[in-house]
Amino acid sequence: MDHPLTHDKAPTGDAGRTLWPVGLDALAYGGDYNPEQWPEEVWHEDVRLMREAGVTMVSVGIFSWALLETERGVYDFAWLDRLLDLLHEHGIRADLGTPTVVPPAWFYREHPDALPVTREGVRYEFGSRGAICHSSPAYHEASAAITEQLGLRYGSHPAVALWHVHNEYGVPVSACYCETSAAHFRRWLGDRYTTLKELNEAWGTTFWGQSYSRWDDVRPPRTTPTAGNPGQQLDWARFTSDALLANFVRERDILHRLSPGIPVTTNFMTALSQCESIDYWAWGREVDLVSNDHYLVAEGERNHINLAMSADITRSVAGGRPWLLLEHSTGAVNWQPRNLVKQPGEMARNSLAHVARGSDGAMFFQWRASRYGAEKFHSAMLPHAGTDSRIWREVVELGGSLGSLGDVRGSRVVADAALLWDWQSWWAQKLEWRPSVELDARDQADRWYAAAYDRHLTLDFAHPEDDLSGHPLVLVPALYLTTEAASRNLRRYVEGGGTLAVSYFSGIVDQYDAVHPGPHPGALREVLGLTVEEFAPLRQHQTVRLSGPAGEPTGDAWAEFVVPRGAETRWTYADGPAAGRPAVTRNSLGDGTAWYVSTRLDASGLDAVLALACADAGLPARDLPRDVEVVERVGATGRYLFAVNHTGADARIPLPGGGTELLTGSPVGGHLDIPAGTTRVVRR
Ligand code: GAL
Repeated sequence: MDHPLTHDKAPTGDAGRTLWPVGLDALAYGGDYNPEQWPEEVWHEDVRLMREAGVTMVSVGIFSWALLETERGVYDFAWLDRLLDLLHEHGIRADLGTPTVVPPAWFYREHPDALPVTREGVRYEFGSRGAICHSSPAYHEASAAITEQLGLRYGSHPAVALWHVHNEYGVPVSACYCETSAAHFRRWLGDRYTTLKELNEAWGTTFWGQSYSRWDDVRPPRTTPTAGNPGQQLDWARFTSDALLANFVRERDILHRLSPGIPVTTNFMTALSQCESIDYWAWGREVDLVSNDHYLVAEGERNHINLAMSADITRSVAGGRPWLLLEHSTGAVNWQPRNLVKQPGEMARNSLAHVARGSDGAMFFQWRASRYGAEKFHSAMLPHAGTDSRIWREVVELGGSLGSLGDVRGSRVVADAALLWDWQSWWAQKLEWRPSVELDARDQADRWYAAAYDRHLTLDFAHPEDDLSGHPLVLVPALYLTTEAASRNLRRYVEGGGTLAVSYFSGIVDQYDAVHPGPHPGALREVLGLTVEEFAPLRQHQTVRLSGPAGEPTGDAWAEFVVPRGAETRWTYADGPAAGRPAVTRNSLGDGTAWYVSTRLDASGLDAVLALACADAGLPARDLPRDVEVVERVGATGRYLFAVNHTGADARIPLPGGGTELLTGSPVGGHLDIPAGTTRVVRR
């Protein structure tokens, strides 16, 4: 197949990498498109309706391996040729998948040992998706071969704007515990620890007599009678993320070679509730364009906060660059216990909330609802009800809205503060036998993020070893594992004038999950100006009262015996196991300040601490209505203020200087009206 057309010039950024789908001169709008589930007549209706809805790009081929390679080395690309040509004729860009998330049945016939094994030793079967041992040489070879074929055939096809490798690495299976994976794990450990002595020290194997005398004895952390070795489990989690990443990199490198200039992505799931096994800080550096899938917990209260948080994490792992929402849903999904519909306008609000936080588009799973298979009750842009439906009308309307926001593309979100997050620390904290089952890093991050959201602070996420000097305020809701480098970094940050706010059970262990020598919190003692003599976890449902400068908040789950060593006490425990001792402290160090919160504060308490930390950081309070999300993006073409009204009441916010509202095309004066449930975008 010969495609003489050359690609449009793509905007390139860092190190000459193409960072945006080639030839896509608009925000991305579309969805996963599975035409292989339909007769070809339907494809013509699809592209016509895509045009009607303003679709600019679709993701294709993600699950098509079995159709493209029907037996080892037997290929059938004819249908995909016709499909890509059809999309190209209609001006729709293709995000072309490598179908490596579902190897065909023939592959498992030849390599049954490429099916993954659970921790308990159960081997999964073919018949669903994502059943892959990512250490399997047979899988490496076969996935490279199909990727190579796709790269050769479509590397310069004029429809192809973006490569979509695999699908959501890390779910539904991340780790495989088979013997092949065990050998791979040992090789990975061999690179990290040159000698077995080093490994024994790192894992603290003198405890419970776990020392190794031969590498071959080292295995994955399979089911053990009681708590396993924490160092081993933590390294296994790191290995798992790395082993998955190596699979992505293998395919990416093939595509870079065969399809130069076309960016390569893989869809992340950065919401902390959706994929736990991937260190997205490392992955963000390897993709050309960061893309993300986000699904609301439909029954969740104020679930737009989780959406905002996921978008902020995604933008942060993209280094602040624009990213792309590759999947969300037009309505109900099919995999939650109760799959609630989205309310009128909610889909647009969700989409534009992602755009507000840096996504240069909004894509969905999926274009047309499937008639069969496990996802037939999942919503789509084109639902079973067809075009005479509310969802379709909203889809067409959203296409128009995104069409009028084209200038926003490439602009960057302005953040007020940062929240530290480290997947590795999370993995460590989740291991068994912690001082309380209430210790939950994700829950802490959610609570602190929500508190900042309610103060209308836009947050970047940052790794604890990142340069933080650009942020006046840094929140640390849960940093159990704190490396020496992070410890120095946080100290430098505060001494240089930053304001730090840290929550309990942070700074406790090093990278091997060994307690930092001396009193807790070893890595943060100096910056916080205190030590913790004993942890004093609370009973289930027990609360403690605090007394201090603002209100009488309560804490639950956790308390501690805090001993100030330079820090001043701001709130004191009024009752409970730590009665009379400091509960919330503030330490001045160099030109900055470090706050410490030693209990799980209720929302009012957390807000009060945050208010004081904001004052230290020079961040003024914002008088904006609750659940009206205001975010700014700034770029070469202007400043764009997004205001998303998640409430059922009309809202008004001040807008000094006014501007032009882009969705309605109307001029805006000194204030902006945002009708209930809608979004407004003002070019200032
Ligand atoms: C995503 C996945 C899609 C589809 C969707 C349903 O996680 O990437 O293929 O399964 O969920 O919500």
